[in-house]
Amino acid sequence: MKCNLMHKRICVVELELDDATGFIKKIGKVYESEHLPVGVPIKKGIVDRTALNDWWTERSIPASRSGIREALEILNIVNTKMLLIKCYGLSLSDQYWICPYGVDITWDKINFFDNPFSDDIGDVLFGTNKKNNAFDFSSPDNTSDGNLKKRWKVIDGKRYLIKGGSNPFRQQPFSEVIATGIMERLEIPHISYQVMWNKEVPYSVCEDFVTSDTELIPAWRIMQTQKKENNVSVYQHFLSCCEKLGIKDVVRFLDRMIVLDYIITNEDRHFNNFGVLRNAETLEWIGMAPIYDSGSSLGYDKMPAQIYAERDVICKPFKKSHKEQLKLVSSFDWIDFEKLSDIRELITETFTAKGVSDYMDAARVKAICDTTQKRIKDLFAISMDYTPSETISTDDDVEENIAEEYQTKGMI
Ligand SMILES: Nc1ncnc2c1ncn2[C@@H]1O[C@H](COP(=O)(O)OP(=O)(O)OP(=O)(O)O)[C@@H](O)[C@H]1O
Ligand SMILES: [Mg+2]
Repeated sequence: MKCNLMHKRICVVELELDDATGFIKKIGKVYESEHLPVGVPIKKGIVDRTALNDWWTERSIPASRSGIREALEILNIVNTKMLLIKCYGLSLSDQYWICPYGVDITWDKINFFDNPFSDDIGDVLFGTNKKNNAFDFSSPDNTSDGNLKKRWKVIDGKRYLIKGGSNPFRQQPFSEVIATGIMERLEIPHISYQVMWNKEVPYSVCEDFVTSDTELIPAWRIMQTQKKENNVSVYQHFLSCCEKLGIKDVVRFLDRMIVLDYIITNEDRHFNNFGVLRNAETLEWIGMAPIYDSGSSLGYDKMPAQIYAERDVICKPFKKSHKEQLKLVSSFDWIDFEKLSDIRELITETFTAKGVSDYMDAARVKAICDTTQKRIKDLFAISMDYTPSETISTDDDVEENIAEEYQTKGMI
C-alpha cells in the first residue's frame, strides 16, 4: 500500500507498506523532515528505514498485551501492525497517521480527538464483543501501547483510558489511585486515576492528557536522538538528549518521579512510561508530561511476606535498585513530609472501598501500609543529610528498556 505519513495536517514522507505484514517496505520523497518521528535519523535526505520501522512497530499494540492473541483471532488479523493500518495509525496520544493514496480523508475529518470512534475493537479486546464480523476498526485502541488490557472511551465528550490489572490481585488500578494521592500531597504534576468497577472487575480510569494540539513523545524516543557512549550513564544520556532538544526542567521532573517511584516501589517505570509533551504543529517542547502509569507498584504481584522482604524488586529506568536510583536526585528540599502523615489512611481507604475485599485481605493491606510508611521514613532520614553526587557512574545501570509482562492465565 502506498501512503503518506502525516503529522496532523502536514505531509511528512511517502511510504510503501507491505500488504501482508504492515512493514514499511520503501520510503519515498521526504516533504517535512523536521516532522519525522523523534529519534528517526535522516542522513543526506535518506530516512533510516529500520528506525522508522521500529517507531511504526512501537505504535502497534505490543504482542505481549494481555489477551491480544485471542482478539486477533476474532478479528481475523495476522498481527497488530495490520490492525494499525485499519485505523490509519491514528492515536489519542499523538498526531501521526497514514493517508493511503486515492483515499479522500483529512485529519480534521478522521482524528479521534474531535470525532467519535467505534467501540468494536475495545469490545473485542475486553472480550465483550457481540459481533462476529463486520467490525468497525476506527478506534484508538488499535494504537494503544502497554501490556495491560485497556480501551479508550468517550464519556460526556471527554476521552478516557480504561485499564485493567493483572492476576492474581489486579492491584494496578488501586496502586494508580494511591500514587495519585501521594502526588497530590507532594504537588507533583500527575494524571489522576480513579477506580471503576465493571462486572466485579476493577479498572483504572484516567483522562487523555493529550489534545488535538499536543502530543506525547515517550522518553524512549528522546533517548534515540543521540548515540549513547558506554561511559555515559543512562540518566546522564537522557539529560543530554533533553538538553540538546531544548526540553526544560527535566532534572526537577526526574527528582519527583524518582522519589515517587521510591515511595511506591514502582517496578515498571520503563522509558515508555514517562515522556515529554510538545506542540504537534510548531514542534515546540511544552515540558515533561505529567506522571502517568504508576500502577505496577506497591508489591502489586507479591504476597505479604515478599512485600516485607523487599527482595526481587525490579527498578527502572535508570538504576537497577531504588536505593541507587534515589542517589540521582538533585534535591529533596521540595518534599513536605507532613503531607504524607496520612499515608496509612490513604492506602487503607483505597483498598477497602466497595468491592475490594474480594482481592485484598487485611494482611496484604497491612504489608503495603507498613512498607510504604517505612520507605517514607527512610526517605526522610536520607533527605536530612543529603549531598548530591557530582559525578554519575554507570554502575548498576539498567541495560535494556523492557516493559513488565503480566500473568494472563485465567484473565477475564
Ligand atoms: N491519560 C493518557 N493520555 C494520553 N496517552 C496516554 C494516557 N495514559 C497512557 N497513555 C499512553 O498509552 C500508553 C499505554 O498506557 P499505560 O502505560 O498506562 O499502559 P500499561 O499497560 O500500564 O503499560 P505497561 O506496559 O507500561 O504496563 C502509554 O505508554 C502512553 O503512551
Ligand atoms: Mg505503560
